[in-house]
Amino acid sequence: MEIPFAESFKIKMIEPLHRSTREERESWIKESKYNLFNLRSDQVFIDLLTDSGTGAMSDRQWAAMMLGDESYAGSSSYFNMKKAIHDILGFDYFLPTHQGRAAENVLFSVLVKSGDVVPGNSHFDTTKGHIEFRHATAIDCTINEANDTQIEHPFKGNVDIDKLETVLKTHPKEKIPFICLTVTCNTSGGQPVSMQNIKEIHALAKKYDIPILFDSARFAENAYFIKKREKGYEEKSIKEIVREMFQYADMMTMSSKKDAIVNIGGFIAFRDEKLFREATTFNIMFEGYITYGGLSGRDMNALAVGLDEGTEFDYLDTRIRQVAYLGAKLDEYGIVYQRPTGGHAVFIDALKTLPNVPREEFPAQTLGVELYLESGIRGVEIGAILADRDPVTRENRYPKLELLRLAIPRRAYTNNHIDVIAASLKNVYDRRNSICRGFKIVREAPIMRHFTIELERL
Ligand code: F0G
Repeated sequence: MEIPFAESFKIKMIEPLHRSTREERESWIKESKYNLFNLRSDQVFIDLLTDSGTGAMSDRQWAAMMLGDESYAGSSSYFNMKKAIHDILGFDYFLPTHQGRAAENVLFSVLVKSGDVVPGNSHFDTTKGHIEFRHATAIDCTINEANDTQIEHPFKGNVDIDKLETVLKTHPKEKIPFICLTVTCNTSGGQPVSMQNIKEIHALAKKYDIPILFDSARFAENAYFIKKREKGYEEKSIKEIVREMFQYADMMTMSSKKDAIVNIGGFIAFRDEKLFREATTFNIMFEGYITYGGLSGRDMNALAVGLDEGTEFDYLDTRIRQVAYLGAKLDEYGIVYQRPTGGHAVFIDALKTLPNVPREEFPAQTLGVELYLESGIRGVEIGAILADRDPVTRENRYPKLELLRLAIPRRAYTNNHIDVIAASLKNVYDRRNSICRGFKIVREAPIMRHFTIELERL
């Protein structure tokens, strides 16, 4: 008999989960103004809000935390992080930050000016937020295949080279501070970018003399997909693929809360010393001194170990197979999601799952609330609420896809939890014909409204 797959770790420490009744959830979600961010974590049974900072650290990471050096300047933990970034990613210069959006804030303070354009694959919301906050425009050049959840494409995070070239051709070079490539592309479904595509983007960037920024939160998952799906990479180690990917980047921002498997942390890495020096001033103002940048020594130590562990095949194989396992269950039940499953999450196609809810009433949010009511599972809307209003017209923006993201924390849940998630979705799907109304907005912030939005049931 063939030996089945099993996780590449065993569990040393556990944390209890809280079950609740449907009546309790009805009242909690109403009190939360139907915004899942407002729920208390003990009102949630399985928390799929994000895979960011929610992973379980390893024994090696916890051991490294005990060795954290809390010196203000010149801490050994800083040098551990510096060595990991140099050895694994190949950058000589870096600045620690407290998380990914802080890295964006510091770097964009140097690079992004009013009237600029930043092309790339679908920008993550904080990245876009930091661009638009500076009165610049993020231009999405993702391949069209990414907008159809049913097309099986191995690299749905890819940039359409023609779309990118059009942007580079039609804007003066001074107005394009960089190309932003998100690996994997969170917004399009945790979908990877192929090495071939990275090379083509790099060639175009060279031709137009524009630098490339990698938004690298899930770079290791991207490398895993290259190994699994791209010809010529089957025999390469994840670390070899990672080194090759980053050869094509001039700089990177990192939310270490994802692929470095820590609960807090981030950084910016640079090739160019001059840019590093310019960014240093902003880092000291916003984040902290050069050798800690908003992190404690123990955080930097755990991050350095996490970069190493996060780029090991067995870890990634366990993780991404779990996400695929959820996808396979949903296939059994006929539930439609962005195909193939991504690295960190499954993105349910809300328009196909709740076909009777009008777009103006936020079907993905409605699905999120229904799933919570069903069994206490918390996902997150990736649809019109997240898309915010157009900064000029102030009209709601309706992205091509309206998705409910179920992000799987790293090393936190078992496949029994995955079975609960799939069965709960099936129950909601089975009663889809009776779900016809969604929500209206009663209060919203001018930017990144999804975090604090308040809704009313229609
Ligand atoms: N870039 C990408 C691709 C991200 O997914 C995130 C965060 C960030 C940047 C910002 O990093 O949270 O450390 O400030 N994504 C989380 C998520 C929040 O749920 O997908 P951060």
